Amino acid sequence: MRGGAQAHLIECDDGYAYVVKFANNPQHRRILPNELLASELLKFLQISAPETMVVAIDEDFIRNSPEARMQLGTKTIAPEPGWHFGSRFPGDPDRVATYDFLPDQLVGKLHNLRDFLGALVFDKWTGNSDGRQAIFFRAQISQWLPLAEENPRRMGFVAMMIDHGYILNGPHWELINSHVQGLYSRRMVYNSVRSLDDFQPWLDRVVHFPEHVIDEALRHIPSDWLRGDEDAFDRVLDALYKRRKRVSDLIADARLAKVNPFANWPA
Ligand SMILES: Nc1ncnc2c1ncn2[C@@H]1O[C@H](COP(=O)(O)OP(=O)(O)OP(=O)(O)O)[C@@H](O)[C@H]1O
Ligand SMILES: [Mg+2]
Repeated sequence: MRGGAQAHLIECDDGYAYVVKFANNPQHRRILPNELLASELLKFLQISAPETMVVAIDEDFIRNSPEARMQLGTKTIAPEPGWHFGSRFPGDPDRVATYDFLPDQLVGKLHNLRDFLGALVFDKWTGNSDGRQAIFFRAQISQWLPLAEENPRRMGFVAMMIDHGYILNGPHWELINSHVQGLYSRRMVYNSVRSLDDFQPWLDRVVHFPEHVIDEALRHIPSDWLRGDEDAFDRVLDALYKRRKRVSDLIADARLAKVNPFANWPA
C-alpha cells in the first residue's frame, strides 16, 4: 500500500483481508499501539472506521511471501515474526474498490458525511498530527451504517476513517495543539457546521468518556509493542484523559486558523 508505514494487504486465516502495518515498520513501533487505541476509541464514539485486528505473522509466512518486504533506502527488510496491526479491508479486495479521495460532488452525497465532524472531535482530542484520512467505497448502506436505518437494498458511498498512527503525535507520545491540526483537506465536509452543537453527540461522548474503555484498550495491546515503553504510554494516556474537557475549545479555536475551515461559522 502507499504511505510511510509501507503497509501490506494480506489475506488472513479468518478469511478477511487486512492492511497490515508491521511492528518493525519504517515509521516507528509506537504507531501500532496508537492504531489499536484509536480503533477502540472510535468504536466507543461510534465513528465509522474499519474493524481492526492483531495479526500474527510467523517464519513460514515470511519465508513463503518474499513480496511482504519493506524498503529502507537500499535495504530490504522483512517483517519480524510476531504480532502486527491489521485494518480490515471492507470486503473482498478483488471485488470492492476503495478510494483515498472522492470528487467533491460525491463527498456531498456520502451517507455518513457527518462522521467527519465526529472525526474532528476525535482528532482534536487525541492530537492527531496527520491530516484526517479516510477511505471511500460503494456498498449497501445498511450493511455498513446500521444506524442509518436505510432501505436494506439501497447502495451508496460510505466513508471510513483510517490511519491513526499519528495520534498522540506519532512516536512522540505528546498532545500537540495547532489551529489546523486534525482537519480534513476537503473543507466542504465542514459546510454544515454553524456552532459547537454540530459536533454533538461526539463532544459529549468525549467529555464523559469512561476511563475503563481506555484501560481495556491498553489490555488488548500486545506487550511486545510496548516493551520498555509502558510508563511513557501510561503518562500520555493520563494526559489524554485529562484533555477531554478542552476539546470544544480546541475545535472553536480552529476558526482562528489563517483560513477558517468552517465557512458557515465565522470566528
Ligand atoms: N482498512 C483499509 N481498507 C482499505 N484500504 C486501506 C485500509 N487501511 C489503509 N488502507 C489503504 O492503505 C493506505 C496506507 O494506509 P495508511 O494511510 O494507514 O498508512 P500510512 O503508511 O500511515 O500512511 P501515511 O504515509 O499517510 O502516514 C491508505 O492510503 C489506504 O489507501
Ligand atoms: Mg496515510
